[in-house]
Amino acid sequence: MVTLGIETSCDETAAAVIRNGRILSNIVSSSVSLHEKYGGVIPEIASRFHIEYISQVTKKALKKARITFSDLDQIAVTEAPGLPGSLLAGKSFAKALSYSLGIPLVGVNHLAAHLYANFLVKNSPSVQYPFVGAVVSGGHTNIFICEGSFNDLAILGRTRDDAIGEAFDKVAKILGIGYPGGPRIEKYAKRFTHPLHTRAGFTKKSPVNFPRTYLDKDSFDFSLSGLKTAVLYYVKNRKMPRREISRVSWSFQEAVFDVLAEKIVKACKKFRIKEVLLGGGVIANMRLRARLKLVCKKLGYKLFYPPPALCVDNAAMVAGLGEVLLKKEV
Ligand code: KG4
Ligand code: ZN
Repeated sequence: MVTLGIETSCDETAAAVIRNGRILSNIVSSSVSLHEKYGGVIPEIASRFHIEYISQVTKKALKKARITFSDLDQIAVTEAPGLPGSLLAGKSFAKALSYSLGIPLVGVNHLAAHLYANFLVKNSPSVQYPFVGAVVSGGHTNIFICEGSFNDLAILGRTRDDAIGEAFDKVAKILGIGYPGGPRIEKYAKRFTHPLHTRAGFTKKSPVNFPRTYLDKDSFDFSLSGLKTAVLYYVKNRKMPRREISRVSWSFQEAVFDVLAEKIVKACKKFRIKEVLLGGGVIANMRLRARLKLVCKKLGYKLFYPPPALCVDNAAMVAGLGEVLLKKEV
């Protein structure tokens, strides 16, 4: 079976071709540079970009997969959640294509697709159900329990204000290091622990002790707004040379990851689950991956995360989940 996937939920216009679970092509065109000067995604700009580029991106995906439209058996498209105008651009395109080619179309949940990206990794060890799933992106910070079907993700906790990726983007804006904030904060944070940073002549500074917001002890929800405000007040009226930006980036990152790691472990312990699947743009962060790897190894949990290109928004994850949904296997 050959499946075309279409993803346009936010600022990435993406198309991918999958044949029986194997990725033949995965093309992403991002409007991120158009949003940079605003420090966040402007919905109207994102949807116009999708309308302009979706056809080209799809043709590129078919070409890379060395197929034509007539080779397609089915289409999967991101149905929700996402920016309404952006979703509409992808869904209208996919519907028109499925109608004109006379092939089935399936709508896919974007968050489930982020977790499904783990199944697209070649030779990955098999995932056992139930698992704890964490989707950590610019739009979402959700912890799920999946009992055995991707159609049936039970939500345990979510953010009450900013998503984690969104907080990275906003803190990067406060630090004046550009957009998207996640990769930039990660880069600055790395320098804080780099040996050159602490070589003779520089005094090694301790991290800033930013607050960890756990909310009440039984909650799996998140809140990032207090931490974001703490960074804002810390930076206000302070000189921020690059070394200080590195220090704040490291300290912010650790404050976020302490809470995230603790909530994932708490979910596993409470429901006696030993499998953890991660997905979403923030999971591309190497420090987060290393920290979760360590904690899961200690506790004997199996941890799965996709390669960075399948963590951020892409259409391969949509095509992959669409393929199984159309087979009604999950
Ligand atoms: O999954 P994604 O591409 O789009 C959404 O569904 O939101 O996630 C984008 C988010 C952005 O907020 C970006 O700053 C964050 O993921 N991100 C990262 C990293 N790479 C992307 N956050 C932390 N560290 C990274 N390396
Ligand atoms: Zn996403």
